[in-house]
Parts: sequence; C-alpha cells; structure tokens
Amino acid sequence: MEFMITKIAVLGAGTMGHGIAEAFAMYGYDVHLYETDKNKRDTVKEEIKKELEILAEEDLIKSEDIPSILDRIKLYSNLKAAVQDRDYVIEAVPEILELKQEIFKLLDEFCPEHTILASNTSSLKMDEMMLEVSDDRKKRMIINHWYNPPHLMPIIELSFFGNMPEDIYKEVEQLYISIGKQTVKVLKDVPGLVANRIQQGVAREVFSLIEMGVAAPEDIDKALKFGPAFRYATTGQLEIADFGGLDIWCIVGDNLLKVMDNSKCANALLRQKVEEGKLGIKSGEGFYKYSVSEVNEIKKKYTKKLIRQLKASKFYI
Ligand SMILES: NC(=O)c1ccc[n+]([C@@H]2O[C@H](COP(=O)([O-])OP(=O)(O)OC[C@H]3O[C@@H](n4cnc5c(N)ncnc54)[C@H](O)[C@@H]3O)[C@@H](O)[C@H]2O)c1
Repeated sequence: MEFMITKIAVLGAGTMGHGIAEAFAMYGYDVHLYETDKNKRDTVKEEIKKELEILAEEDLIKSEDIPSILDRIKLYSNLKAAVQDRDYVIEAVPEILELKQEIFKLLDEFCPEHTILASNTSSLKMDEMMLEVSDDRKKRMIINHWYNPPHLMPIIELSFFGNMPEDIYKEVEQLYISIGKQTVKVLKDVPGLVANRIQQGVAREVFSLIEMGVAAPEDIDKALKFGPAFRYATTGQLEIADFGGLDIWCIVGDNLLKVMDNSKCANALLRQKVEEGKLGIKSGEGFYKYSVSEVNEIKKKYTKKLIRQLKASKFYI
C-alpha cells in the first residue's frame, strides 16, 4: 500500500485542535488550521509557540526548528479554502451533534473524493455524525480520539466500526505512527471508547474513597501514582492480571467488588464541589487549593512531567 496522506486540515483551534495541528506540524506535515473565532486565530500561534518552547527546554525538539514548525501551520477563516486540497481533515469543534453533522456535510461537498474525514468526538455516535454524508464518503470517515494535551499524549483511539475498508484504516493508522503516536483499534461504537471508560472506572472509586474519608487527597493520589498507575505506565491491566494469576484476580474481585462504589452517575462530593464553584485549578480550588500566583508554574511542572514520561516511554514500548 502506498502511503498518501501529506496534506492535513484541523477544524477548531481550541484545547484539542491547536495541539493536534501542533503535533502534525512537529513531524513535518503541512497543516491548515480553520477557526471561526478571530481572537483565537490571532492568538493561537503564540500559544503553540509557548508549548514548543517548553518542548525545546526539555530537548524534545530543537529551538531552531520552532519557526519552521509554526510556518507549517496556516490559519484559515474560510472552510472551503482550508479543506479543498487536503488529504485528511480532522474536526475538533465543540461537542454538538448538529454542528458536527453540518461540518461533515460541508466537508463532503468541499473536499476531493479521496479525502478522509475524521472526528475527535468524545461522546457522539459515528452513525449520527455522518447522517448527511454521501455513501462513498461514509467509507472514508473515522473517529480519531486524541487525549489532552494532544501534542504530548501518545494515545489515539481509531474507530473501525465496519463502514470503511481495511486499507483506509491502515492509511490513517500509518499517519499516526508517523507522528510517534500509539493507536488503539476500537471495534464497537461504545460511548467513551476504551481509554475514557477505563479512566472513569478508576475515577469513580477514587472519588468514593475521598468521599468516605478513607485517606487524605494527597495519600489517595500517592496510592494511585506509586501503586497501580506506576505499573500501568509500562504494563496493561490484562498483562498484570496474567502476571498475578487469574485465579487470584478472581478471588480478590469476588471479595472487593461487592463493597466498592457501583454508582451510575457522577459522585455526590464531586457534584457538591461543582455547585460550590470549586472547579479545580481554574477556580483556585478543587480537591486541593491553588493560589493565582502559582498556577502557571504548576501547569508548567505538569507539562514537564508529561514530557519526561513521554521520553521514558520510548524505552518500554
Ligand atoms: N478537551 C478535551 O480534553 C478533549 C479530549 C478529547 C476529545 N475532545 C473533543 O474534541 C472536540 C473539541 O474539544 P475542545 O476541548 O478542543 O473544545 P474547545 O471549545 O476548546 O475548542 C473548540 C474550538 O472550535 C471553535 N469553533 C466553534 N465552532 C466552530 C466552527 N463551526 N468551525 C470551526 N471552529 C469552530 C471554537 O472557537 C473553539 O476554538 C470536542 O468534540 C471534544 O469532545 C476534547
């Protein structure tokens, strides 16, 4: 199979879209970034530049490469102009079904026949998003679910729900491999795909433990970081189960699962904090407190830890 995706368009320059454009540009791809908000168009390059500078500080890229990476991203306010010569278009516009349906309808009209259309949706059904798209294009539509921050998190979940031939799937998979990502092939259109469902399972128990007062926030986070998550960074749950012995996992599951949280909605303490305006770092308090003066420093430290983890991951893949 000849690999053909070289020209990319990203729609929406928000939290996800700007980082997706950045990730492709870092690996030499020519990216058109379409955004409807003028203020965003005026500021997004500076935002990307700051992120690239942190990557350079950590030796993940060379600082002299930053101008050319930025040059590879061209901003557009006109959708047709942004996509009409593209091989691959990924939308990262707000999570509103009608908006995504409208965008895909227009993309079907504006893009060349060969263009593959992708959605970064976190929760919408593929069938519903492509309702107004031609049958031929439906064979070239895929969900590509990135994680935040997109330029650092290696995972991309790719849908393979039966609408597209395997060779088109392989082409998209190859595109992501070429930018250093780890792809996960998802075979069924289940809400949350794979990674978010796993994360919510862990989060449900964590919120429940804090609600019951079993340990302080610092200790619960420590238990995760230096316990299960320490292994998860290198070894998947199914591998861990095999190493531990499935008989043991069966016995412990029978004993523990019946006393653990099995609620079907967000945790009550979490909801209470939201009602009190304690939204986390963005409001100065969540499970921890943050002073305005330290927020930028905390965010930078978080990013640097992710970069170091990304570097380390090259050794255990
Ligand atoms: N934030 C996350 O952690 C995350 C993770 C994975 C997937 N997602 C998904 O990615 C998508 C984008 O999420 P986000 O967090 O980046 O949202 P966001 O609100 O930060 O960004 C959306 C951007 O799209 C722009 N926009 C609005 N209407 C548009 C239009 N018609 N055409 C082009 N641009 C338009 C907005 O101005 C904004 O800049 C959603 O589908 C979301 O569910 C988000």
